[in-house]
Amino acid sequence: MRARVVGTGSYVPRSVITNSDLEQTVNTSDQWITERTGIRSRYIASPGEGSSALGAKAATIALATARLDPADLDLIIVATCTPDMPFPSTACLIQSILGAKAAVAFDVSAACSGFLFALSIADHYIRLETYRNVLVVGTEVMSSVTDWTDRATCIIFGDGAGAAVLQGIKGENGILSNHLHSNGQRWDLIYVPGGGSQQPLSETVLNERLNFIKMRGSTTFKLAVKMMEEAAREALAANNLTIDDIDLFIPHQANARIIKATAERLHVPMERVVMNIGQYGNTSAASVPLALDEMVRENRIKSGTHVLLIAFGSGLTWASTLIRW
Ligand code: COA
Repeated sequence: MRARVVGTGSYVPRSVITNSDLEQTVNTSDQWITERTGIRSRYIASPGEGSSALGAKAATIALATARLDPADLDLIIVATCTPDMPFPSTACLIQSILGAKAAVAFDVSAACSGFLFALSIADHYIRLETYRNVLVVGTEVMSSVTDWTDRATCIIFGDGAGAAVLQGIKGENGILSNHLHSNGQRWDLIYVPGGGSQQPLSETVLNERLNFIKMRGSTTFKLAVKMMEEAAREALAANNLTIDDIDLFIPHQANARIIKATAERLHVPMERVVMNIGQYGNTSAASVPLALDEMVRENRIKSGTHVLLIAFGSGLTWASTLIRW
């Protein structure tokens, strides 16, 4: 039994913030942002539009392409670091919006690697034949934890959602491997210090802007390239494949320079590497499924295509998923 992706979908909110919009609010320039990150615009959710709303829209499209009803779902796993509320889970909220009454639903927290962590859980349940139809969603409203006065971080993140429906099907195609990693020692490279149980929301938290993302950009950059390269090589070695066997690399969209540096180290031509960060920015757990859905819609993925997903994020976490489509 293998977990096969039988449907994908994605959704981004309507509002767009361009680099020139940011030039009006912080001391930055379109040229700086484009050269250092490759980002030109990012989508931003409307007030009241939470991760569940975005995720449910992506999920609805994924279910339609899979020709499945919400009632067919056995399990819903949502990867997000920007849940609507501390509880209930965003997965339960999406279950409610979809009306997926038979499903079990829970969230996974692994920041930008979250979608791959969730895929791995889905894959294990499917292989064990515990569940057959599984919805995996990566959804984020990063704008809710973005400090719009901090030029080092507000240029990077965006909102959006991507979803995949997996089904247990006998045969050679489907998820071939997952490899997950964490290094909690480096938790302080990207984090939101306030608003959780350690420092609940208070006047001090708000005044010191502790409810927003703090990031050590250049250290994160270097580790990201190293971890993404290692993740890709580990997946290839585990499957006895070489770089040339991979038709499409879908890396987490954090920074165009990180993606290009990783591709260079792996000796992969950029034609086989997906890069859509220019339009969306870094949408954390949504970035890989958004890119995956784009590739499906552009017909770049067909039966038998080898797709390698690689991601890294806060935690630190990093991961790979290899799929024979
Ligand atoms: N506009 C103009 N200047 C800016 C700026 C902005 N938006 N943001 C930072 N700068 C300035 C800095 O203040 C610094 O100035 P100084 O030299 O006078 O101190 C200078 O640009 C260089 O800053 P630095 O942080 O060294 O730049 P960088 O080349 O490392 O690029 C990032 C910054 C954030 C784009 C880059 O480090 C990065 O992408 N890191 C990875 C982040 C990431 O992927 N996070 C998500 C992980 S899932």
